[in-house]
Amino acid sequence: MSSPNLLAVLLLVGICSPATGKVYGRCELIKLLKASGMSGYRGVGLADWVCLTKWESDHNTSAQNHNTDGSTDYGIFQINSRRWCRDGSIESADGCGIPCSRLLNSDISDDIECAKRVVRDPNGIGAWVAWRNHCRRRDLSSYTAECGV
Ligand SMILES: *[C@@H]1O[C@H](CO)[C@@H](O)[C@H](O)[C@H]1NC(C)=O
Repeated sequence: MSSPNLLAVLLLVGICSPATGKVYGRCELIKLLKASGMSGYRGVGLADWVCLTKWESDHNTSAQNHNTDGSTDYGIFQINSRRWCRDGSIESADGCGIPCSRLLNSDISDDIECAKRVVRDPNGIGAWVAWRNHCRRRDLSSYTAECGV
């Protein structure tokens, strides 16, 4: 690669990095969730939250998945664009009052606030299909093991 191209690549990386995603380590995520008041939030324990994010996004904040109804799920919690965030491509209730794109970067404080909003609805954590299919009524002790929580 010639050096002008290398410079261009480095510049692009530098410009893009604040908006780029991140794959969280399990214990790193657990500690952040705990510090954000997620332990026992609406009766949901840390193991349930981490099981949920594992199966929804593999802890990858860049995760995006399209649904058959035309909506898209965004970020580490796979927040839905029809109900909770707005992406301009479908009509949205925008329950969290946030552009979906903000749910893809490495800063998950807004994702956590939105997940708290989702879990305050009557369905609670049952709103997440991956939680129902992989976490509900399971032994989740391995999800928090050796993280010091
Ligand atoms: C995270 O998700 C993005 C978007 O799907 C993907 O491009 C990237 O490879 C994923 N990262 C890892 C480490 O799997």
